[in-house]
Amino acid sequence: MGRPLETSSSESLTVRDNRTGKTYNIPIVDNSVSATAFKAISAPAKPNEREESGTEKGLRVADKGFLNTAVIQSEITYIDGEAGVLRYRGYPIEQLALHSSFLETAYLLIYGSLPTKDQFRVFETEVLHHSIIHADAEEFFRSFRYDAHPMAILTSAFAYLGSYYSEANPSLQGRQWQTLFTKGDKASLANMDKQIFRLIGKATTLAAMAYRIRQGRDFVIPPTGLSYTGSFLYQMDHLGEENYVPNPVLCKALDVLFLLHADHELNASCTTVLQTGSSLVDPYSAIAAGCASLYGPLHGGANEAVIRMLISIGSPANVPAFIEAVKRREKVLSGFGHRVYKTTDPRSYIIRKTADEVFKVTGRDELLETAMALHDAAMKDEYFTKRRLYPNVDFWSGLIYRAMGFPMDFFPVLFAVPRVVGWLAHWRQMMLQEGGVKIWRPRQIYVGAGKRDYVPMAERESSLVNSDPKKTPSTVPHSGMTKRTMLASYRGKSKL
Ligand code: SDX
Repeated sequence: MGRPLETSSSESLTVRDNRTGKTYNIPIVDNSVSATAFKAISAPAKPNEREESGTEKGLRVADKGFLNTAVIQSEITYIDGEAGVLRYRGYPIEQLALHSSFLETAYLLIYGSLPTKDQFRVFETEVLHHSIIHADAEEFFRSFRYDAHPMAILTSAFAYLGSYYSEANPSLQGRQWQTLFTKGDKASLANMDKQIFRLIGKATTLAAMAYRIRQGRDFVIPPTGLSYTGSFLYQMDHLGEENYVPNPVLCKALDVLFLLHADHELNASCTTVLQTGSSLVDPYSAIAAGCASLYGPLHGGANEAVIRMLISIGSPANVPAFIEAVKRREKVLSGFGHRVYKTTDPRSYIIRKTADEVFKVTGRDELLETAMALHDAAMKDEYFTKRRLYPNVDFWSGLIYRAMGFPMDFFPVLFAVPRVVGWLAHWRQMMLQEGGVKIWRPRQIYVGAGKRDYVPMAERESSLVNSDPKKTPSTVPHSGMTKRTMLASYRGKSKL
């Protein structure tokens, strides 16, 4: 906690509050200062100051959008956004993409080291064994319309999945099982790892089932003897052919893409998983929340948005006009910009190279020329370079998915499936942290109405009803209303 100046060590901030003349010595640890230290810095309220400001209760640290707030210590992923560095447990992403596999990298992210042959065999067997889901789930998936967005199906499916596993649900267990390992309960760690095997193993099955709903086809039981991505493609595409084997180039390309998408420290969806998990809800609900966050076009939905953008541009000749529209803020250059990377996302180089491998077997995607023209134009344009807007992981990935024949709205699903690993690695790390889990409950700066007394409805004049459209309910059209129903008469309808 900040305290009036005693001894100012070199690793500290000395903060002077000019309102009171007091100075505070706040330690610097791991290149950070504790936000709660600023709560000790208080001052008397100014004359006529609103009580809601809370000046005497101490300072708050404002950080809209978490631009510079660290909420957890982590050993999992390191990013240097200035240098374009990404490492999983210290291993450069470039080396892992070249030498590792998605499941081996999943083991690394979750357990902290590269597995021995035996360790990997056990892990891979567990994950692939847990790709099977309860037969009743078919009814759940069939309850969706054929044109439901697959991310809506997948998000719901993760929460639904948890309903099968009461041992993972603290509400049904009547105890907070997730943090018992730190108190020596080994069974809770085994329980945790079993849910992790299930969620990784079943992520592809749920995604494939969402795809089959769109196709109006029966579901496919996960096969044996195929890789993680091989099993995924088999479940999506098998139509009864004997000895059906997905193309190895496509399996390998998807494995590299899954590896690159496995984790990215505290992005919006991972933060959502941890925020939700901090209430000690079951891991399936926390993963469902993360999936919902990833669904957004500013995050995992960007790979779909990039293709829609490229289609709307149409050809390289239209790129200059599109760039001008972005500068006028009429359009967004999806696939560019990143909260952390202020240079090209290192994953995008590897994805670009993987695209060429895929195009060798699928043929080049006709949008590639437009994408390359757009990329080159933006990289040379001061509007983007000045704002340090460079290609991120989503700029090229959609072209690969399109070349592989995935429907556009399935692209975010191809991001969510591998990211389940990163979400689970961070969730497990938080559940096992020393001292247990504190619920995440940020503060606010209240700028709303001061205390006011209730006004009986009869005394509320229309002048009280603010003309601001945001402050009155909108008038909305009702689907299904037709001239016939509007002209019909029935009890309770005014005679117009
Ligand atoms: C992912 O966090 C992660 O790690 C995410 C991710 C992961 O692996 O989990 O890496 C995956 O989500 C990648 C990002 C995918 N999203 C997109 O490609 C959507 C387009 N990008 C932007 O919406 C934006 O760049 C964000 C959301 C990614 C980051 O936004 P910030 O950090 O909040 O930055 P900002 O919106 O404040 O923008 C700063 C400036 C603004 O201009 P000014 O008002 O200062 O003049 O840059 C402009 C913005 O208008 N800007 C863009 C732009 N992105 C930012 N202008 C045009 N096109 C863009 N894409």
